[in-house]
Amino acid sequence: MSGMVPVIAVDGPSGVGKGTLCQWLAVRLGWHLLDSGALYRLTALAAQRRNLPLEDETQMAAVASALDVQFLADASGASRIVLGGVEVGDTLRSETLGSAASQVAAFPAVRAALLRRQRDFCRPPGLIADGRDMGTVVFPQAELKLFLTASAEQRALRRYKQLIEKGMDANLAALVKEIAERDARDTGRAVAPLKPAADAKVLDTTQLSVAEVRERVLALAIQRVTVTVIP
Ligand code: C5P
Repeated sequence: MSGMVPVIAVDGPSGVGKGTLCQWLAVRLGWHLLDSGALYRLTALAAQRRNLPLEDETQMAAVASALDVQFLADASGASRIVLGGVEVGDTLRSETLGSAASQVAAFPAVRAALLRRQRDFCRPPGLIADGRDMGTVVFPQAELKLFLTASAEQRALRRYKQLIEKGMDANLAALVKEIAERDARDTGRAVAPLKPAADAKVLDTTQLSVAEVRERVLALAIQRVTVTVIP
């Protein structure tokens, strides 16, 4: 099935604005959305809830395979995530969990355990896939592959504003450090490292507003994929 369903793969480092862009795009096109980072975050969260060691690849892979999770989309494109019957709120987006996620995401067995689950999101009329290896590993057949970048300082600042808006605690200097560490881990790992696919369109968003990024991405989607844009 996934071979016939159009996919737009959106990859890039943490805090580059993929999440909001992908949510918006999924609503505009009326397509499904895969937030693959959430699966790695949920794996780390489920492990923490059970006091399991994040350093243990075998146990982390078992947690990833057994994840009991539901993504319930609302009309705005945001999704409510239910893990083990309990709704997971904003804690999923915390930087601490992001770091824990990148730790478990470096294990090949964890990535293998989550592969099928990610591909299952590929259903008609189409999929917007948000992550680090969407264009390189999970959906190499994607019609359009985007790789978003922005300076680490700009990304830390965006993440800072996002967290503050949500009423969560944030410290800019700590965020810059965490983002740089996460970049190094995601880019340097042996399996599915963060890198643009050979046929990806790289978009540096450092100097672009959210509206400008949306406009460019929508134009590319219309050019490359058969889409019906919902006004
Ligand atoms: O995108 P998000 O910040 O939610 O991702 C959390 C972590 O999960 C990333 O830092 C990365 O290590 C991992 N991840 C990944 N592959 C993906 C998506 C996320 O390795 N496709």
